[in-house]
Amino acid sequence: MSLNGKKIILAITGSIAAYKTPQFVRLLVKSGAEVKVVITDAASAFVSPLALATVSKNPVLSSVSDGATWNNHVELGLWADALLIAPCSANTLGKLANGLCDNLLCAVYLSARCPVFIAPAMDEDMWKHPSTQLNIGKVKSYGNQIIPVGHGELASGLVGEGRMAEPEDMVSHLEDFFTNVPLPLNGLNALVTAGPTYEKLDPVRFIGNYSTGKMGIAISEALAAKGAIVNLVLGPTHLSTSHQNIKVIKVESAHEMYDASMRVFGEAHIAVLSAAVADYRPTLKETEKIKKKENGLTLELTKTEDILANLGKIKAHWQTLVGFALETTNELENAREKLIRKNADMIVLNSLKDEGAGFGHDTNKISLITNDGGIKDLPLQSKKDAANAIVGQIIEMRYAKEIA
Ligand code: CTP
Repeated sequence: MSLNGKKIILAITGSIAAYKTPQFVRLLVKSGAEVKVVITDAASAFVSPLALATVSKNPVLSSVSDGATWNNHVELGLWADALLIAPCSANTLGKLANGLCDNLLCAVYLSARCPVFIAPAMDEDMWKHPSTQLNIGKVKSYGNQIIPVGHGELASGLVGEGRMAEPEDMVSHLEDFFTNVPLPLNGLNALVTAGPTYEKLDPVRFIGNYSTGKMGIAISEALAAKGAIVNLVLGPTHLSTSHQNIKVIKVESAHEMYDASMRVFGEAHIAVLSAAVADYRPTLKETEKIKKKENGLTLELTKTEDILANLGKIKAHWQTLVGFALETTNELENAREKLIRKNADMIVLNSLKDEGAGFGHDTNKISLITNDGGIKDLPLQSKKDAANAIVGQIIEMRYAKEIA
């Protein structure tokens, strides 16, 4: 299954060839893809949205809002590994060529950052019209790929050029595309730590923190999307990931996280330590529940192993080590000091001062501090975008060191 795990948006416009799309969706799903369908009003005259929802196992989206729900075209555009507009009518082609946006489909197209494939379908005269050919040239010049039209019987009864490519051929086209794309982290292993740690006090209590692991999971997914095989050492959290190239190793305490990280670091080309590891654990872990006393209770704490610092000590030249810093004062100075002290290649600096940044939020505001003295302040953005920026910087650093 060569489209295994690929997220594909099939965007269907008003052309008779739309009747072939449920079969096309089935073939995409059979090849391992996850498919979401976006459809124009004109297309739903040619094909049943219910049939498409059934075969894709996802709701079919047609407008920017469905009653009270807003269909986030930006999220959809970012979700996809590929957007395929098939069949693409002459009318939609004209809109794509000129940046018009009067429906969800066009909004998704304009928001998509993934490769876009366009499979035109129309009558021969429409296909050969200079305006259509001009529009084809324009959309190609934007970097979109055209899946060539076929020759054969057309809806008008004429025989000629303009048929939408056959669904089997479009699946092969996508399969070829994905197998031939060399990803920058193909063949590399990565280690990511994420989430909080829980340090047991007794059988029912622990010392923990508010981390959810969202940022670390996003980093694992960004690394995997660039071709890396990832070991994600994940502290206790309700979040997880099912990406096929990410192996989740669940741990609870700082010590378990340390053990798991040390075990897999030897084969990791890249290690990103985003976990909020407890710096201290209770010196004594009571086997029975601690009973309430008359007065206060003093706990004795012992330092945990510093995973980042320990990996920094054994790091080889081909390994890229990235740590996080959450600072409240002298942010830059402290982060730089941490970079040197822990022998990291980069520190991702989080500031708790920025609204929308930090534990549990969907957004983050970070600065990337590298061991060549560089500093990049990034704007407040989704954790997914922040993760992509971190991974982009790692790739850049590895190219610069010629260890990519
Ligand atoms: N870290 C770690 N193991 C620990 C503590 C921290 O691997 N026991 C890692 C974190 O995952 C993060 C980085 O170290 O990547 C920074 O952690 P932080 O707690 O901010 O730094 P400390 O060095 O502990 O310094 P301080 O708490 O004084 O800021």
